[in-house]
Amino acid sequence: MRQTIAGNWKMHGLTQDAASLATALLGAGPLTRDLLVCPPATQIAAVARILAGTPVAVGGQDCHSAVQGAFTGDISAAMLRDAGASHVILGHSERRQYHAESDDAVRAKVLAAQAAGLTAIVCVGENDAERQAGWETGVVGKQLNASLPDDFAGILAYEPVWAIGTGRTATEADVAAMHLFIRQTLVRRFGPAGEAFSILYGGSVRPANAASLLAVPHVGGALVGGASLKAEDFLGIARA
Ligand code: PGA
Repeated sequence: MRQTIAGNWKMHGLTQDAASLATALLGAGPLTRDLLVCPPATQIAAVARILAGTPVAVGGQDCHSAVQGAFTGDISAAMLRDAGASHVILGHSERRQYHAESDDAVRAKVLAAQAAGLTAIVCVGENDAERQAGWETGVVGKQLNASLPDDFAGILAYEPVWAIGTGRTATEADVAAMHLFIRQTLVRRFGPAGEAFSILYGGSVRPANAASLLAVPHVGGALVGGASLKAEDFLGIARA
């Protein structure tokens, strides 16, 4: 299966920055990995126009679980799709932390995304204290079971919270153990279909550590924050 390198631009940049970054990706040339960029919501349409007809896909960073309604400030899955997105990141640890998103809320969003024809990228991962206590598989197992609907058809991302934006990347052994655990959990729940889900790793992925992380068994690609804001670094990861 081809690996996916997804860029999570978070709340950075204005339309002109997004357009420059997207334009810089046009010159990537043939790659052996699929690319996806997830700009802030206001920039999705502009980025999607620039990347239309290229192999680089565009995604959102969150969506509401309802089809429509009186939800001031929120964005529906169909709106993301309408703006040109094919994917949406859901349950990112920053959403779980700063917006108190529960596993149940994430599962409802996944259902909404799938109903609108978007591919959901569901994030799971333990925090520092949970890892120190040896609870990482318990935490991730619970997140997986409760955040994924029975008809899940998307992508997973393992992002240990302590590795996000910190420069502290998980070791290859940590990544190997967790991705195997996630694979086994998916197969137990979904049967043979569980073998096919792509499981991205995220947390301080950079060009210098990408090759070794992407070579770990059951790693289906990378979800990249900081390093996705520079085309050179993002493409460096894609080519690693
Ligand atoms: P980072 O972020 O690459 O800056 O650590 C990853 C993420 O939050 O998806």
